[in-house]
Amino acid sequence: MTDLIEALKAPTADPGTGQVRTGTPVSRVDGRAKVTGQAKYAAEVPAPDLAYGVVVSSPVAKGRITAIHTADALAVPGVVEVLTHQNRPKVRSFDIAYKDMTAPAGAPFRPLYDDKVFYSGQPVALVVAETFEAARYAAALVRIDIEQEPHDTKLSANVDKAYKPKPLKAGFEPPPDEKGNADKAFAEAPVKIDAEFYSGVEHHNPMELFASTVIRDADGHLTIYDKTQSSQNSRWYVSHVFGLSKSKVTVRNPYVGGAFGSGLRPQYQLTLAVMAALHLKRSVRVQLTRQQMFSFGHRPETLQRVKLAAERDGTLRSIYHQAIAETSPIEDYVEVVVNWSGMLYACDNIKFDYKLVKLDQYTPIDMRAPGAAHGVHALEVAMDELSYALNMDPLQLRLKNYAERSPVEDKPYSSKELRACYELGAKQFGWDKRQLAPRSMKEGTELVGWGMATGVWDAMQMFARASAVLHADGRLVVSSAATDIGTGTYTVMAMIAAEAMGMPLEDVTFQLGDSTLPVAPIEGGSSHVTTVGSAVAGVCEKLQKTILKHAQKLKDSPFASAKMKDVEFAGGTLRLKKQPETSLPLTAILNDSGMVRLEEKYLMLPNMLKQRKFRRLVHSAVFVEVRVDEELGVVRVTRVVNAVAAGRIMNLKTATSQVVGGIVWGISQALHEESYTDHRFGRFMNHNLSEYHVPVNADIHAIDVIFAQEDDRIVSRLGAKGVGEIGIVGVAAAISNAIYHATGRRLRSTPMTPDKVLAGFDSGKP
Ligand code: MOS
Repeated sequence: MTDLIEALKAPTADPGTGQVRTGTPVSRVDGRAKVTGQAKYAAEVPAPDLAYGVVVSSPVAKGRITAIHTADALAVPGVVEVLTHQNRPKVRSFDIAYKDMTAPAGAPFRPLYDDKVFYSGQPVALVVAETFEAARYAAALVRIDIEQEPHDTKLSANVDKAYKPKPLKAGFEPPPDEKGNADKAFAEAPVKIDAEFYSGVEHHNPMELFASTVIRDADGHLTIYDKTQSSQNSRWYVSHVFGLSKSKVTVRNPYVGGAFGSGLRPQYQLTLAVMAALHLKRSVRVQLTRQQMFSFGHRPETLQRVKLAAERDGTLRSIYHQAIAETSPIEDYVEVVVNWSGMLYACDNIKFDYKLVKLDQYTPIDMRAPGAAHGVHALEVAMDELSYALNMDPLQLRLKNYAERSPVEDKPYSSKELRACYELGAKQFGWDKRQLAPRSMKEGTELVGWGMATGVWDAMQMFARASAVLHADGRLVVSSAATDIGTGTYTVMAMIAAEAMGMPLEDVTFQLGDSTLPVAPIEGGSSHVTTVGSAVAGVCEKLQKTILKHAQKLKDSPFASAKMKDVEFAGGTLRLKKQPETSLPLTAILNDSGMVRLEEKYLMLPNMLKQRKFRRLVHSAVFVEVRVDEELGVVRVTRVVNAVAAGRIMNLKTATSQVVGGIVWGISQALHEESYTDHRFGRFMNHNLSEYHVPVNADIHAIDVIFAQEDDRIVSRLGAKGVGEIGIVGVAAAISNAIYHATGRRLRSTPMTPDKVLAGFDSGKP
């Protein structure tokens, strides 16, 4: 971490003025609130006369509820009610009412709607009591009679039922049409690879459990603290499902303890908590258990096949990428799995295939670089296999086929410093000392291997509104209904505003996490900086103009004839660029103009006409060292260097943290995570943190993050492209490739557990 430590020593403010600058490392402004416990999460917010709801889940995967026996539960002291589909309050009956902002095609799940059960773990009752303990105990006493129907949860047994999904989902792009003739080019090429890959179900497992606290006022207004990646998405959903006017519901999510995509859709504890609050006319909290965290969406189980063909000099002639993934009986969950293979390498013949299979499971949901984490994994392991077939250095193969324009659609990139990532990463890692042959390095009892992979993710921008209020006492409050899921939104938005207005960071507050604030999109796709950040920059620019106008009107104003280009905002003042000693404190401008506050509002709309002309991506080059104990099958990832090109980096510290976190999840994808289904019951077996493995400190060794210089004014006015999800992409592939380099064993499924390492060969079939 030497680079990071050096970087953290860099000054964060201009000497003299205390002025914060974007691009520097700044500690999170909400850090103190978090470490002291002052930051309250959805299940921690106090409320008077609060009732507690505990969910009863279906033990069977498919069937019809014939009876619910609640007498024993209701007899427990303190139990207030057992809500089921039979006594719940009225809800809307059209599918459209259940569509949230990120819903895919299909009919969304309706909690406690009717007697149908379509997945194991489905909520079928809510026990509400005066205490959490009473509710939890009573929930165990509820007996449900379910007339079981046969279920099917096996993806591999149903690939013949795969179909082309409806491509309807925010941010989804269906695979493009074939370029050239991939089959013919494959048949004719001298060197080829045809490999299958398998990745099992994964669950997000953020530290914070899903929870909703619904606080009901005397007048019936609901203030809901919800664990979500968008307060406005939850507000919209609750309004629609229950037919409540917008003014009757406020959703807040000021702090979110990780989400990784699981909070992109309103989850059922929200619906159940609101049901109970409406039914009982009192405040209710519903928090899920860790086991129930495995019952509302997951990264889908996916089968892939990648065929690559090349000339003997390494020139790629053909790329074919197929994926078959699971979805639920009710919705077509889609994600971009295969398209990435048409964005990285120059090639004349590229063909895709993406299909879904309906299984008796809940609808999958976006998780940590959805689609790319596994799609790019398959491509990048196949590229490594091709490099060995060619007897060529894996990095040289990437450079040989480096795309200067996005290959399938033949568009320019808005920016692409991937070459710099390869160079910076390779240099930092010491890649030039690598020998081509597997099993060439050993230390003690361990084989040592070096592997690399490319990473890619979207550089997205959505639309957002922001408001800014400058108070006469010198405080600036900027607001948007954005979310901080731990990524650093509070900090980065405050930095952007402080820099624009020339104010010290301490005087600037960014308000987020409240559905009544100006419209912001869901925090997803690593796009909050490009979107909300640009709205913040926009509203500050408007505020600057208004301040200048007021300054011009002051008596004997030194700014009377000044234009925007003649002035700057620095040290809490407005001053002339050419004559900095001619300055006025912003507070004086407001006070002398007789104002206690000055407010501006701004709507940031992306320039889509311009953006559409470019393929907009973030890139990375990942280099990994593993140590493999062949007798135990244990893999240790002892060194990771991830060089990332993600436009201008706004906060070096939080951006680095994002990428480090992504790398940890990449190690996790590679070695630890999988939710195993017992197909006899159609149920996840390891739904707890003792058996669903995530990395612990002992699994994580040296991690280096490097940012390549990049500045992309097509993606955003800030030059930023967004950072977060790019951190995971390519990491598992680099680890797989390093394991091959260490051992000569090619593992084509994730996670690469000791049994697979010991077996020595992995067909990529489940
Ligand atoms: Mo992310 S998987 O878009 O929260």
